[in-house]
Amino acid sequence: MSVVPFASHDAVDPDAGDQSDSIALAPSEAFVSSAAVQDITERAMAYLEAGYALHLSGPPGTGKTTLAFHVAAQLGRPAILIHGDHEFGSSDLIGRESGYRKSRLVDNYIPSVFKLEEEGRALWIDNRITTACRLGHSIIYDEFNRSKPEANNPFLSILSEGVLNIPGLHGRGEGYVKVHPCFRAIFTSNPAEYAGVYRAQDALLDRMITLELGHYDRETEIAITASKSGVDPQRAARVVDVVRACRVEGKDPHFPTLRATIAIARVLATRGGEASYRNPVFLWACRDILSHTTPNGKSDQAVSPDFIDLILRRSEGAEEGGKATMRSGGRAAARAKGGK
Ligand SMILES: Nc1ncnc2c1ncn2[C@@H]1O[C@H](COP(=O)(O)OP(=O)(O)OP(=O)(O)O)[C@@H](O)[C@H]1O
Ligand SMILES: [Mg+2]
Repeated sequence: MSVVPFASHDAVDPDAGDQSDSIALAPSEAFVSSAAVQDITERAMAYLEAGYALHLSGPPGTGKTTLAFHVAAQLGRPAILIHGDHEFGSSDLIGRESGYRKSRLVDNYIPSVFKLEEEGRALWIDNRITTACRLGHSIIYDEFNRSKPEANNPFLSILSEGVLNIPGLHGRGEGYVKVHPCFRAIFTSNPAEYAGVYRAQDALLDRMITLELGHYDRETEIAITASKSGVDPQRAARVVDVVRACRVEGKDPHFPTLRATIAIARVLATRGGEASYRNPVFLWACRDILSHTTPNGKSDQAVSPDFIDLILRRSEGAEEGGKATMRSGGRAAARAKGGK
């Protein structure tokens, strides 16, 4: 079992079974557990402990995957990680036939009598869901709506009847696996994603409890940015404010994400210098990283370099009275055009 340093501050129960596909979730120094993170964790754990599957839904970069690992670690069981994939079929999740085993028994106890028995048996290989159901491991199914809806059908009976139906094992007395009481499933999805995702079945969504995540509050974003980049909280706050302003006033309220904030802060940590308009490193890092973001598949930019300059100058009190314009439009530009 491999160990993934991720999120938790709790140890995983070493007696909970050992499978090569399972991971043990170990504490990570970089994980930030602010009041907002604790609040959402508390709610998630309440639903999981009550026996429900959890669904963390939200736009990119809102911490869904990180939180999924964190709550899985709190459960204290080995975890099995699956990433949604459009090529998945049910067999990729539950298992499949793998070859054929033939055994021959020769009974020649009485020399004059020769008895031969032959038995053929198809070999079955469990896949990750089946293993988790049998052993009571946790499943983290990241971006499950990237798999075709029918591939996720096995979850319907797992989550409502506590039974995994394995058609390939029918006739051998193993066609139904009773789900271990410790089994838990944590799903993540991004409903706003525009490429390579499917609409999740209503029946499946109805069997889980969905927590809608948005961007974290400013204080949490500052703590995460400082923790993941190594810059001090003052510089982290400057970067966070710039990115949050782009989100509020740019074209798309979900872009740029916390990932962009962390990326700019990492560049600052590597190259040094202030998070100031006068620091060329900070200026070009903001322009490159923030203006590169394209929302919802549109080819134009969420925020233009000019708009970024405007935000940077303004946030330092050096705004030059609306000289900068938003080349790609946006709410701030629209407001400016309307004279408001
Ligand atoms: N509590 C936290 N502590 C430390 N870092 C965090 C925390 N939450 C999120 N992050 C960091 O923020 C970034 C985005 O988080 P994450 O990848 O979990 O978002 P996501 O919602 O799964 O995004 P996507 O929809 O694009 O997959 C990552 O770099 C992650 O490490
Ligand atoms: Mg994710």
